[in-house]
Amino acid sequence: MPNTTHYTAIGLSNTKAMFEKAMKGGYAIPAYNFNNMEQLQAIILGCIESNSPVILQVSRGARDYANQTLLKYMAMGAMQVIKEAGSKIPVALHLDHGDTFELCKSCVESGFSSVMIDGSAHSFDDNIELTKKVVEYAHKFDVSVEGELGVLAGIEDDVSHEKSHYTKPEEVEEFVGRTGVDSLAISIGTSHGAYKFKLKPGESVPPLRFDILAEVEKRLPGFPIVLHGASSVVQEYVEMINKYGGALEGAVGVPEEQLRRAAKSAVCKINIDSDGRLVVTAILRKFLHDDPKNFDPRKYLGPARDELKKLIILKNKNVLGSAGQA
Ligand code: G3H
Ligand code: 13P
Ligand code: ZN
Repeated sequence: MPNTTHYTAIGLSNTKAMFEKAMKGGYAIPAYNFNNMEQLQAIILGCIESNSPVILQVSRGARDYANQTLLKYMAMGAMQVIKEAGSKIPVALHLDHGDTFELCKSCVESGFSSVMIDGSAHSFDDNIELTKKVVEYAHKFDVSVEGELGVLAGIEDDVSHEKSHYTKPEEVEEFVGRTGVDSLAISIGTSHGAYKFKLKPGESVPPLRFDILAEVEKRLPGFPIVLHGASSVVQEYVEMINKYGGALEGAVGVPEEQLRRAAKSAVCKINIDSDGRLVVTAILRKFLHDDPKNFDPRKYLGPARDELKKLIILKNKNVLGSAGQA
């Protein structure tokens, strides 16, 4: 690959061995999104401290925001920090919700060890065609590929879905067989963002569709399944945001016990972005309210980063079950 970097040169891993271990061990690998240095520091330090494998996720939006070259070197820097800490946690660098072949190719070339091609907005056959094309290219470089069947409600980068469509278990064997993907994201009731369920007063969050998950597992024994939209929308941070001037009424996520249950099954990767966003926003709002004279970004980004690191350690221990598994 001229003018390109292969992920092994950076010390990254693809997801194959990570998922095999997770499947056998009854836990899931955390996939945390990052867009800036503080998020990356919190993820890396939290995963070193809890000795957890990790998938660092970059969306198209993150690449646009932070600059793709800078992101690549940030990931390289993170690997060096891990080495200097004497840690050997496996790390994958993954494209989240790639929507075109060209974007996936560009990520493979710039050192990603895993890419998602999200063809869920297309017809079944077009999704297969696009996913297969990405798999054929990525596999030449031993890069893992995640596909998606079924539609999650909420915002998936540029694609906004009003309604979710659960994954049809009867389609999964054909999809995996014809595309050659290494893992499959399915829709069983999770959704992106901080408003996952519309609850009337007194109502509680409905359970995820574990029946669909069980049917998928039966049809694809031992195959790695991915859950997107898996933030729990931790109420402590929602309340802090609202107390200090925010307006996140009715924000609600997936209960941690349900995610833990999923992590014990064929679900090998759990995606978490919104929870991290909420932590950072809560700490910033509180700090700026409590200390109006301060204007040093380190004074508020530092505590936000430290709180995010704490959340990541707790998630790895209590939700993913990945702590101690590196
Ligand atoms: O599923 C989407 C992720 O949370 C990434 O969000 O496209 O706003 O970076 P983003
Ligand atoms: P959340 O919005 O629930 O954090 O989901 C993130 C995600 O699925 C990233 O791909
Ligand atoms: Zn997602």
